Amino acid sequence: MEILSTKVAIIGSGPAGLLLGQLLYKAGIEHIIIEQRSSEYVAARIRAGILEQVSVDLLREAGVDQHLNEMGLPHHGIEILSNGEKHRIDLSALTQGKEVTVYGQTEVTKDLMQAREEAELLSFYEANDVKVHEFYNAPYVTFHKNGVEYRVNCDFIAGCDGYHGVCRATVPQDKIKTFEKVYPFGWLGILADVPPVSDELIYVQSERGFALCSMRSNTRSRYYLQVPLTDKVEEWSDERFWDELKNRLDPESQKNLIIGPSIEKSIAPLRSFVTEPMRFGKLFLAGDAAHIVPPTGAKGLNLAASDIAYLSSALIEYYLKGSEQGIDDYSEKCLKRVWKAERFSWWMTHLLHRFETESDFDIKIKQAELAYVLGSEAGQTTLAENYVGLPYEIKKFDDLKQAS
Ligand code: APR
Ligand code: PHB
Repeated sequence: MEILSTKVAIIGSGPAGLLLGQLLYKAGIEHIIIEQRSSEYVAARIRAGILEQVSVDLLREAGVDQHLNEMGLPHHGIEILSNGEKHRIDLSALTQGKEVTVYGQTEVTKDLMQAREEAELLSFYEANDVKVHEFYNAPYVTFHKNGVEYRVNCDFIAGCDGYHGVCRATVPQDKIKTFEKVYPFGWLGILADVPPVSDELIYVQSERGFALCSMRSNTRSRYYLQVPLTDKVEEWSDERFWDELKNRLDPESQKNLIIGPSIEKSIAPLRSFVTEPMRFGKLFLAGDAAHIVPPTGAKGLNLAASDIAYLSSALIEYYLKGSEQGIDDYSEKCLKRVWKAERFSWWMTHLLHRFETESDFDIKIKQAELAYVLGSEAGQTTLAENYVGLPYEIKKFDDLKQAS
C-alpha cells in the first residue's frame, strides 16, 4: 500500500473540487484531488453556462480568468416569452449595474484543469473504490489505481463528488437530513454550431411546455425543451427538435431561428435536493454533493462556487490564523444561500413549466403571477436580483493574509 499525507483531500474533480484546489494552491495549502473518472471524461462533460458576477469574481481571484475574459459574453438582460409576447428583464438596470456572463461550465472545468496541470498539482484520475474514513476523528481516504492500493491521511476531506458521490453516502444516517422534490419532466438539450436566435437568453412559457434559447458563443447555440420523463433521446431527431422548438416560439423568433445539425443531445431529469448539515466533523460537502437545483434559474454551478468561496476561506483562515470560526460557520452560511437559490429555482421551474396534474385554475393563477411579475418593477426586481446572484460576504485571501 502507498501511504500519502496531505492537508486537504478533495474527492471529485468537477468545478467544485477543481476550484477549491486552485484556491488552496494560491494560499499555499497542500491538497490532493481524487477523481473516479478519466481527465478526458471530466473535461468533456457538457453542463450549464451562466455565471453570476460573484462566480466570475471568484474565478478571477483563483487566477483562472484569462480565457473567461476573452470568451465570456456579459449579458445585461433576459427575455421571457409568455402568451406569444416577449418581455425583457433588464437585469443591470434592476440590480444597480450587475450582469451575468455566458461561459460554459465545460470551459470553466478545462481552464481549472489546465491551471492545475501548469502548477503540477497532484491529482489521481481513474481512482477506483474511493472510500472516506474516520472523519469525526483522524480522517483518511483509500482508493485503488492501476492495481496499487492508496491511503491518503489528511486533516480534512472535501466531498466535491457530486450527487452520486461516496462522501454523502458514507455519513451515518442519524447525522444527516435530506430534502427532495423530483419534477415530472426533463429537459431535452441540444448544442449546435449555429448563431443564437437572439442576443439574449429567451425563457419560454408556452402551452406546449417550457423552452429555453441559450448560447455558448456568438456561433454556438444551446436550446432546451421540456419533455416527458418517459421520452428517449433516440425519439428526438434533430428535425423533430427544431420543429417543436419553433412551435413554442413567437413569430419573430421563428423567423430568426437558424437550425443546423446537433453536436450533442441529451435528456436531464429535474430535481431539487438539499442535505443538512453540510459539515460532518472533518468532512465537508460542497456543490452537487450537498444540493441540486433544477436548471431553470441557472444556479447549479454558481451555488457550487459560493460553497467553495466559504470553504476555501474557512480552510485558509484555519491554516493561516489558527481560527476554526469559518469551519464552524461553514454549513450554516452555505445553507442560508442554498435555500434561497433552491426557492428561486423551484419558483422559476414552477412558473414556466407545464405540469400534467395542474388544473385550468392552476394554469390561470400561474399566468396571473407571471403577468404580475412582468408588469411590476418590484416583481421584475425580485427576479433580477435572484438571477444575477444574491450577494454574499467572504473574507478575501489578501485580507486573511494581512491579518495573520
Ligand atoms: N470518487 C471520486 N470521484 C467521484 C466519486 C467517487 N466515489 N463520485 C463522483 N465523483 C466525481 C464525478 O466523476 C465528478 O467528476 O465527482 C465529480 C463531481 O462533479 P460535478 O458532478 O460536476 O459536481 P460539482 O463539482 O459539485 O459541480 C456542480 O456541476 O452538475 C453540475 O449543475 C451542477 O453546475 C453544477 C456543477
Ligand atoms: C445553458 O446555457 O445551458 C443554460 C442557461 C440558462 C439556464 C439553464 C441552462 O437557466
